[in-house]
Amino acid sequence: EDPALLEAFEARVAADEFIEPKDWMPEAYRKTLVRQISQHAHSEIVGMLPEGNWITRAPSLRRKAVLLAKVQDEAGHGLYLYCAAETLGTSRDQMTEALLAGKAKYSTIFNYPTLTWADMGAIGWLVDGAAIMNQVPLQRTSYGPYARAMVKVCKEESFHQRQGYEIMTVLAGGTPEQKAMAQDALDRWWWPSLMMFGPPDDNSPNTAQSMRWRIKRDTNDALRQKFVDITVPQAEFLGLSVPDPDLAWNADKQGYDFGAIDWDEFYAVVRGEGPVAKERMAARRQAWQDGAWVREAADAHAAKRAARIAA
Ligand code: ACO
Repeated sequence: EDPALLEAFEARVAADEFIEPKDWMPEAYRKTLVRQISQHAHSEIVGMLPEGNWITRAPSLRRKAVLLAKVQDEAGHGLYLYCAAETLGTSRDQMTEALLAGKAKYSTIFNYPTLTWADMGAIGWLVDGAAIMNQVPLQRTSYGPYARAMVKVCKEESFHQRQGYEIMTVLAGGTPEQKAMAQDALDRWWWPSLMMFGPPDDNSPNTAQSMRWRIKRDTNDALRQKFVDITVPQAEFLGLSVPDPDLAWNADKQGYDFGAIDWDEFYAVVRGEGPVAKERMAARRQAWQDGAWVREAADAHAAKRAARIAA
């Protein structure tokens, strides 16, 4: 790679300028972006499944309409992100094939089952809450199309977080059975939500370079800490307890100390051994096969149009 081009690129990144699709960029920068954006897109799409599971069982028409809208938003997020990745020279087919072949990852969080209605509350509050914590800084990521996609995504995620917290408020203030259901959901989703931020900084192979390129604006541990600090008082407000006996306010750092995360569980889920990983991949594979006729029809239409224009 031409050192002068590399130097100019690095200077632009350092000056917080956006890099755009037709600009020169190092191949490794392009590759990192395709990896992160495509995995982010897959997470949004696979992320429709745990909540989609409850649309037909929502407890009222209002709850159903809200959940339906939320799940549709996630589909939209996946599509903006696939479009952002396509500007880097990869195709939707290539990205999907990488997911189905097990080469591209998606977030560990979506490999856990949704057992009760309270899980819809816990997911909105904790999972979407963690997603916002990670995505707000990505509005200033150095690649323009990714940063701009994040703006709309973050607005919608903040509605998702609030609707989840509102479900938790109603359940936590309801009958003893409802409150127990809310507590059980918090117990099951707390630790997987902390794992969403990725491995600890000293074991995160991509962080240092991604921070230098300003693809990532904060490290995994910094965002995880911020999430804990914001979320613990919210649990207290609900009258629910965070399932961590080591959780304690640390006045020196003005933040919470928290217990050890089970990284063995995290890596097992990353390897595809999550509780419902097989069901998630089977659902995506089925959807891809079921949609084959649509892709073929679109190709046939495009070919016909091209032939007509050429004639
Ligand atoms: N689930 C699955 N894989 C993960 C997770 C996770 N929670 N956290 C880290 N990994 C993977 C990384 O993708 C990487 O593998 P790869 O090199 O094959 O891609 C490996 O573990 C090592 O991690 P890091 O070096 O820390 O990787 P990275 O710098 O990419 O940081 C992070 C991971 C924080 C997830 C980053 O990619 C990111 O910010 N992505 C955008 C946000 C996103 O994808 N959110 C999805 C969930 S939110 C939602 O969809 C609602």
